[in-house]
Amino acid sequence: MPTRTGEQSMGKLSHGIKEFLAEERLAYVATSSREGVPNVVPKGSLGVLDDDHLVFADLYSQKTRRNIEENPHVSVAVVNPAAYEGYQFKGTAQIVDSGPALERAIENVASIQVDPAKVKYAVVITVEEVYDLAPGPTSGKRIA
Ligand SMILES: Cc1cc2nc3c(=O)[nH]c(=O)nc-3n(C[C@H](O)[C@H](O)[C@H](O)COP(=O)(O)O)c2cc1C
Repeated sequence: MPTRTGEQSMGKLSHGIKEFLAEERLAYVATSSREGVPNVVPKGSLGVLDDDHLVFADLYSQKTRRNIEENPHVSVAVVNPAAYEGYQFKGTAQIVDSGPALERAIENVASIQVDPAKVKYAVVITVEEVYDLAPGPTSGKRIA
């Protein structure tokens, strides 16, 4: 199973993982309430902001948004089921309403047929840990 470990960047996201994320935009974003109640949703606008940050357009979040305000810890899974390739990212999320992250989120929705004018907020995820999800010997191993 493929694991894009080798090629390092300056941050947590290797060149190989950034390439993967450019191809696979659909992410499953898990948040948790203050009491620890989990909530997982798909986000089709996820992309790379820079070597340490992911971003998605926050258009419809209800529980996701509430949870991030209560508890910034998030976990994100992005997979290519056909290739049995996937990665899990853990970090902290912040809701922003301006700047390069919002601009990137607006670019990301262009590919999913959403009116860019509707994007008023973006969620920026500071990636602290990266895990391989591919089935096999590297499954669940921390790679960054
Ligand atoms: C394929 C797919 C892609 C989605 N992409 C986004 C997205 O990029 N941004 C967003 O805010 N909501 C997106 N949604 C909606 C969220 O998955 C979800 O409905 C929303 O966050 C409300 O759920 P919550 O209250 O649990 O947060 C998408 C839904 C689907 C089915």
